[in-house]
Amino acid sequence: MIEFRGVWKGFEGKSVLRDVSFRVERGETRVIIGQSGQGKSVTLKLICGLMEADQGTVLVDGRVVNPHSRESIAHVRERVNMLFQFGALFDSLSVRENVGFTLFEKSSLSRAEINRRVAECLAMVNLSGTEHLFPADLSGGMKKRVGLARALICHPTIMLYDEPNSGLDPVTSDLINDLINSTSRRLAMTSVVVTHDMASAYKVADRISMLDAGELIATGTPEEIRASVDPRVRQFIEGRAEGPLTSGLRAATVE
Ligand SMILES: Nc1ncnc2c1ncn2[C@@H]1O[C@H](COP(=O)(O)OP(=O)(O)OP(=O)(O)O)[C@@H](O)[C@H]1O
Ligand SMILES: [Mg+2]
Repeated sequence: MIEFRGVWKGFEGKSVLRDVSFRVERGETRVIIGQSGQGKSVTLKLICGLMEADQGTVLVDGRVVNPHSRESIAHVRERVNMLFQFGALFDSLSVRENVGFTLFEKSSLSRAEINRRVAECLAMVNLSGTEHLFPADLSGGMKKRVGLARALICHPTIMLYDEPNSGLDPVTSDLINDLINSTSRRLAMTSVVVTHDMASAYKVADRISMLDAGELIATGTPEEIRASVDPRVRQFIEGRAEGPLTSGLRAATVE
């Protein structure tokens, strides 16, 4: 469903992804872990067409989507939706307007039908009846769930989640994990989840990949990652400051 073949991406002479290749199968939930600044969000942006690879091939649902063209962007937009790292809700719009945004803007559905779909998606994320609230009225966990409802309303076949659990208490965080699992099953979606949180990674992943210094250094099932003998993987999953991992500040190699 998603494939990277030898993908390179850099910014101003600094390479962030270096020859990255992986494949996410249809219906799979892939979790990407790695320290801050290792290119996890960049990877998601390459999949959803917000960024373009410098070299290599990005495939989404059987089609090469780079270099970008009007057709490749349309192909991706039809299939992929993303829950952004910081929610990215419109502060001046209500929950209803936020969740229904794409349909209000782009579809010819009636207002009543859109309202019905908004209510359905809010129910999926346990936020029924919050249509009239504004982002300023919401807690962090509620904002994440509104963001999720907004992403789900277009019935994407591929969902990308950037740090869906960050900043949430453990109980709310686990509720988000349950939502990721239940919606991906119910809507038969392929998902890529970026997270630092290993409890969430183990709970939602079919497979986990770890990014470090621009490369994918490990891929495996939660059990395989838990049992990994790679000292970099061990340092990360055990959350130790001391170890072989590149410091976050030095992470991206200067060419
Ligand atoms: N648009 C951009 N212009 C220049 N540099 C960028 C851009 N986007 C990302 N980068 C750089 O690419 C590197 C990887 O960024 P990315 O956002 O993918 O990190 P991340 O792994 O998601 O980190 P975090 O866990 O902190 O979110 C960083 O060094 C960042 O500064
Ligand atoms: Mg990020």
